Amino acid sequence: MSPFSPLLSWSQTHSTTLTHHPLMALENHHQESSNSILVTGGAGFIGTHTVLQLLNEGYRVSIIDNLDNSVEDAVDRVRDLAGSSRSGNLQFHVGDLRNKEDLEKVFSRTRFDAVIHFAGLKAVGESVAKPSLYYNNNLIGTLNLFEFMTKYGCKKMVFSSSATVYGQPETIPCVEDFQLMAMNPYGRTKLFLEEIARDIQKADPEWRIILLRYFNPVGADMSGQIGEDPKGIPNNLMPYIQQVAVGRLPVLNVFGYDYPTKDGSAIRDYIHVVDLADGHIAALRKIFSKDHIGCVAYNLGTGRGTSVLEMVAAFEKASGKKIPVKLCPRRPGDATAVYASTEKAKKELGWKAKYGIEEMCRDQWNWARKNPWGYRPQP
Ligand code: NAD
Ligand code: UFG
Repeated sequence: MSPFSPLLSWSQTHSTTLTHHPLMALENHHQESSNSILVTGGAGFIGTHTVLQLLNEGYRVSIIDNLDNSVEDAVDRVRDLAGSSRSGNLQFHVGDLRNKEDLEKVFSRTRFDAVIHFAGLKAVGESVAKPSLYYNNNLIGTLNLFEFMTKYGCKKMVFSSSATVYGQPETIPCVEDFQLMAMNPYGRTKLFLEEIARDIQKADPEWRIILLRYFNPVGADMSGQIGEDPKGIPNNLMPYIQQVAVGRLPVLNVFGYDYPTKDGSAIRDYIHVVDLADGHIAALRKIFSKDHIGCVAYNLGTGRGTSVLEMVAAFEKASGKKIPVKLCPRRPGDATAVYASTEKAKKELGWKAKYGIEEMCRDQWNWARKNPWGYRPQP
């Protein structure tokens, strides 16, 4: 049988010998891995930061991305940041998870040890306006991915879920075993995909799946070379603030000033994207070192809540720019306060966030001032 035969499962041909203790994850940054990882959506905001971290840790990485919400320049910058000795470990494929031919090309070329699955559409408002697009892209894309992973004997996945699956939590902090609820079609795709992943793993216990529920990812790599670059008017708070700071937008609309919080604005758990990327490395370590992890969910947050107005103040301090604000009615569907319980990730992944609001704003501003128009040239 050829070493690339899809019939031969990866676990039959390779064994992973990383010894693992949960608390080693944070201390283990010098332990290199040569495992090969497929990163779907790797040209995007969280993907680029995670790919850079993977390369720095010695992993071999292939990206598949259809560039729907990203540009190839971002991948080139990751290569530059990784340096000449590491960048040879990165393959980039323009491809769409909804297209099985694209998946066949990628899977038949490289044997992957695990997949980190970021690819998906993520704009809540757009998902309400175009639910079929979201179900088609996020659900069909992921089902195809599961099909090809099964075909090629790669049964280890880290999946990008979201704190959105907690809906309007009745109590905070959000704990992983809370009852889940979706507030919009985007949230429902995450909820459905979590359930699908659980069913697939239950039917075939060889699967090892980690569902990572991100809270609010912000900030950028400290180099200021990669960062978030949304198309059009940003939906999320930090990219919006950033565009006000560089003069692309005149004023920040603060959605809600009558919430029962200390300053009346809503509270979220902002997490530095570099911490988030680290969380994926910790998840991979667990996946490679433990046989029977099943399908398990972890929050990736800091456990600290920050209000919109506190975030504005922190960004003003970091940037030295005044951010004009307009107090507006609440945004429909928004919760008052959401933040993570971080205990499970700390205990079982040996991961916790290192950075606070100050570093998040510092690095986001560094990215913004060096790239006021993101990856695009000034129009
Ligand atoms: P992003 O849009 O920057 O990255 C997603 C990438 O996936 C993009 O590069 C896009 O081109 C690609 N993509 C989309 N559909 C594809 C398809 N069918 N085939 C191939 N590529 C496709 O988003 P991000 O912020 O990096 O988010 C990554 C993941 O994390 C998403 O699944 C998102 O839902 C999830 N998430 C993000 C946040 C957040 O606030 N950023 C919060 C929670 C969860
Ligand atoms: N906000 C403003 N003005 C803006 C944008 C946002 O006041 O221009 C407020 C919102 O009302 C909210 C807070 O800032 O109170 C954070 O809003 P974001 O849109 O940045 O983030 P959300 O918490 O609403 O949602 C984000 C992603 C979801 C994801 C969730 C949890 O958009 O996809 O984090 O990870 F599910």
